[in-house]
Amino acid sequence: MADQWKAHCLVVAYPAQGHINPMVQFCKRLAYHKVKATLVTALSFWKTVTTELTSDFNISVETISDGYDDGVDEEASRNPKNYVQRFWQVGPQSLSELIERLSGSGFPVDCVVYDSFLHWSLDVAKKFGLVGAAFLTQTCAVNSIYFHLHQGILKLPIDKETKILLPGVTELEPLDLPTFLFLQDGMHLHYWDFLVDPFDTIGKADWMLSNSVYELEPEVADWMKKKWPMMRTIGPTVPSMFLDKRIPNDNDYGISMFNPNDDLCMNWLNNKPKASVVYVSFGSLATYSEEHMQELAWGLIDADTFFLWVVRASEEAKLPKNIIETLSKKGLIVTWCPQLKVLAHEAVGCFITHCGWNSTLEALCLGVPMIGVPYWSDQTTNLKYIVDVWKVGLRAQMDEKGILRRETVKDCIKEIMEGEKGKEMKNNAIKWRNLIKNSIDDGGSSDQNIAEFVTAISK
Ligand code: UDX
Repeated sequence: MADQWKAHCLVVAYPAQGHINPMVQFCKRLAYHKVKATLVTALSFWKTVTTELTSDFNISVETISDGYDDGVDEEASRNPKNYVQRFWQVGPQSLSELIERLSGSGFPVDCVVYDSFLHWSLDVAKKFGLVGAAFLTQTCAVNSIYFHLHQGILKLPIDKETKILLPGVTELEPLDLPTFLFLQDGMHLHYWDFLVDPFDTIGKADWMLSNSVYELEPEVADWMKKKWPMMRTIGPTVPSMFLDKRIPNDNDYGISMFNPNDDLCMNWLNNKPKASVVYVSFGSLATYSEEHMQELAWGLIDADTFFLWVVRASEEAKLPKNIIETLSKKGLIVTWCPQLKVLAHEAVGCFITHCGWNSTLEALCLGVPMIGVPYWSDQTTNLKYIVDVWKVGLRAQMDEKGILRRETVKDCIKEIMEGEKGKEMKNNAIKWRNLIKNSIDDGGSSDQNIAEFVTAISK
């Protein structure tokens, strides 16, 4: 059995849904290439996972401690600095113990692929003489922004009028930058540990694997490759079968903290005409105000369109009963859905999204135009690319209070589902879908990069 594998990679994921998903998919790619992949994440997170990987993927799972084995307390959930400090203290030791334990098994570890957020993993890998590969879960453009902050080339505070010009990155306005830069009272530093500090050591990593696609951002990818010759784009980490719109295997999307209601969603979609449904979802973390949620609800009602809206259980109370009743005339509200299957369904005409990188990449892979309502983090930069670079979506402009208004929702839906602009965006979305599909097909840019990585780490 052991000689079936060319190498053994630990794939160390930051404990969050948006980080686990791409790392699980990357594990599957490794397993496809006969590299044994062991997904590693924090025990506290693993305990919250509701769906598990099935054995057909050949992926093992191990946990390490983040210092909160009995569950992340409220203070640490509210304050990322507290969480990260403790994780950074106990994580390296816990990861070392895991590597030691595995070295006595039939499958000693050869390589540690680590989420760049968990940058201390590189020191651990080097201590054991292993290959260390940083895995960037966000776009090359966003990582370039973090790097330029790290170098002090991009300096805070940033004046509202400044035009941000970084090599290979499209021209940005300050509001296109990741939102944490604008947090007041030193709060931005709470995110520094995992967004900017990785650039202290990244140059020492043997590989830098970016969950992006070369064709999506070639200029900045080229710039990064010049700076870090071992940088490779390996995305999209989306199950390849979805790119063909083939019927996905029910278990294909791996690990989830929430229970998707597959049958309900898919049966509902099956009865809807082609491209008639607006899919609405804001990922695993975004929380909006009641006013924002209710305006969105009325916007959907006023647009008089079919919609499938994911309202996580923790957000449900923000929608009063009377709105839910009115919404249910044309829409379905669920607490979680099989997003890839939904986006692959021909009934879906557009996606109202927070522009999380996974959601963005999934919509691009499946040729679905977007209406962007960014919540935080890299989502603002992703939206800039969705609207102005890839031209596959609209920006839903918030008012001065940061609330999305119902007229805006309605207008955006009409424009994208019925207007000329919508047709153009759909055509562009199909163009990107095909380019992305080529990148992962035999001989495509990401396929070649993954093959190169596998060859280099193989024994
Ligand atoms: C976070 C950040 O917000 C994002 O900007 C960053 O780039 C990665 O981590 P999250 O907010 O959860 O993630 O959003 P996103 O990146 O879009 O990931 C959500 C994942 O959950 C996607 O893979 C999506 O397919 C999945 N999902 C979402 C479901 O499977 N079902 C749902 O109902 C909603």
